[in-house]
Amino acid sequence: MRVAVLSAEAVPYSKTGGLGDVAGALPKALRQVGQDAFLITPCYLQTKGEYLWQTAIDDLSVDWRGGKYPAKAFYSEANGSPTFLIDAPAYFHRDSIYGYREDYERFAFFNLAALALIKRLGSAPDIVHLNDWHCGFAAVKIAHLRFWDSYWRNTRTVFSIHNLAYQGGFGAEELWKFGFSSDYERNAFAFNGYASAMKAGLAVSDMLSTVSKTYGYEMQTAENGYGLDWLLRQRSNRLYGIVNGVDFDIWNPETDKEIGAHFNADNLDGKLECKRQLLEQFSLPEDLERPIFANVTRLTAQKGIDLMMAVAGDILATGAYIISLGSGEQQYENFWQRLRDYAPRQVGIFRGYNENLAHKIEAGADMFMMPSKFEPCGLNQMYSLRYGTIPIVRAVGGLEDTVENFDAVNGTGNGFKFREYRADKFLERIYEALFAYYDKEAWRKLQRNGMKIDNSWQNAARKYVSLYHKTRS
Ligand code: ADP
Ligand code: GLC
Repeated sequence: MRVAVLSAEAVPYSKTGGLGDVAGALPKALRQVGQDAFLITPCYLQTKGEYLWQTAIDDLSVDWRGGKYPAKAFYSEANGSPTFLIDAPAYFHRDSIYGYREDYERFAFFNLAALALIKRLGSAPDIVHLNDWHCGFAAVKIAHLRFWDSYWRNTRTVFSIHNLAYQGGFGAEELWKFGFSSDYERNAFAFNGYASAMKAGLAVSDMLSTVSKTYGYEMQTAENGYGLDWLLRQRSNRLYGIVNGVDFDIWNPETDKEIGAHFNADNLDGKLECKRQLLEQFSLPEDLERPIFANVTRLTAQKGIDLMMAVAGDILATGAYIISLGSGEQQYENFWQRLRDYAPRQVGIFRGYNENLAHKIEAGADMFMMPSKFEPCGLNQMYSLRYGTIPIVRAVGGLEDTVENFDAVNGTGNGFKFREYRADKFLERIYEALFAYYDKEAWRKLQRNGMKIDNSWQNAARKYVSLYHKTRS
C-alpha cells in the first residue's frame, strides 16, 4: 500500500516529545514490512541543515487564503524513509516549534501544502495517516475532495490520537479564510461554538487509532475525554489501540552512540560504567551502591510531577540519588531547583531539552519514575525496560499496557505499578523497588525480564497495516 504519514514533528528533523519519536520511526517500519510509506512534516528553523538532502520541489503552489501561496519541499531519508519537508519560513521558521496564538493557522497551512505536494508527486496514496490535531485539517479536506476530485477517490484516512488534551481550537470564522467553506467541512470542525481540529479529525477520518489499548478505553470516559468522549464512544467501532514501538536503531544499549559504555541482558557491566559517568556528569559523589531514581519529561501536570514532588523527600531520606531532566512549567522547574539546592550531593537536575542526556540517564539510572495522571502511551518506560532501568509507573494508558508488576515469588514482571493517583501509593511501590534493588538476584531478574521484551516497531507496523486494510471493509 502507498501510505503518506503526516506529522507536525518527526525525529530527527524535529521533536518536542513522543510524537516526534513515533512519526520518525513509523514510516521506516512500514517500509520494513513491505509498504510504500513516506513522511511529510514541516521544515522548522530547528531542523538541522544536514538533514535537508536536496530540494524536491521549489515551486509548490498551495491554495491558501483565497490565493496561491508559494512553498518549497526538501527531500531527505535521514529517518530511514522518504521524507518531504514543507518549507514555508513565515510559518515554520520560529524560535519554537509550537506555542503561537495562530498555531492552528500554521498547521492548517501545513496540511493543505501536504495535500498539494501529494498530488504533485503523482500516484494517489491508498492511506493518508494523520497524527493528532495538527492534521485534522487534512482529514476534512480529503473527506470532502473525495466526492468531486477523482484523484482522491480511493484514498482513505487513518487518524491517530497521541494526546486528546491538545485539541487545536480556534474561532470558526477562520475556516472560510482557509478554504473550508462548505457546510460539510464547517460541521466537521464545529465544537461548542468554535472550531476544533481534533474534533474534525475524529469525526471524519475513516479509521481512528490511539497509542495503547487502555487509553483507547479511557478516552471514552468523561474524565479523560476532554469533551470528546461522546464522539469517541459513537465511533468506537472504528477506534483501535496500537502500542507504540521502540526504534532500536536509536534506543539500544548495545549500540547507542550517546552513551559511554554498552551492555545487554546477558552482560550488564557496561551499565555500571554508565552509572558512574552519569554521577560524574552531575557532580554527584561516586557511590555506585546507592540507587539512582530518574525522570526525563516535559514538566506538565499530565506527568504527575506533583506526586514526584510529594515523595522526593522520602526518597532522599533513604540515601538514594534523584536525577531529573526536563523543562516546562515554572512551578515544577522551581521545585527541582530547590530540591537540588537542598541536597546538592544527592540531586542532579538539568532544565531544558537535551537528547544526549536523555540517553545517558536511561543507561545510567536504576529506576525510572512515571507517575502520570494520564499517559496515552509513554515511551520512556519502554526505553527504560530496554536499558535495564526499572520503571515505577501509575497504571494508566500505555503504562498499564507495557509494565507488569514484579512478583518476587514467581520472578515475573518488569517494574512496579500503582493505581490510585496518591503519593502514598506511589511511595509504597518506591519502597518495594528499593527492597528489590538491594536483593541483587531479584534485581537482575527484573532487569532481564524487561530487557528481553520485544517492543519493536515492526510489530506495531504490522498492526497498522491491518488497520489500513480495515478502512476498505
Ligand atoms: P510525551 O510525548 O507525552 O512527552 P513520551 O514518553 O511519549 O511523552 O515521550 C517523550 C519523549 O521526549 C521521549 O523520547 C523523551 O526521552 C523525550 N524528552 C522529554 N523531555 C525531554 C528533555 N527535557 N530532554 C530530552 N528529551 C526529552
Ligand atoms: C503523546 C503522549 C505520550 C505518547 C506520545 C507518542 O505525546 O503524551 O503518552 O507516548 O504522544 O504517541
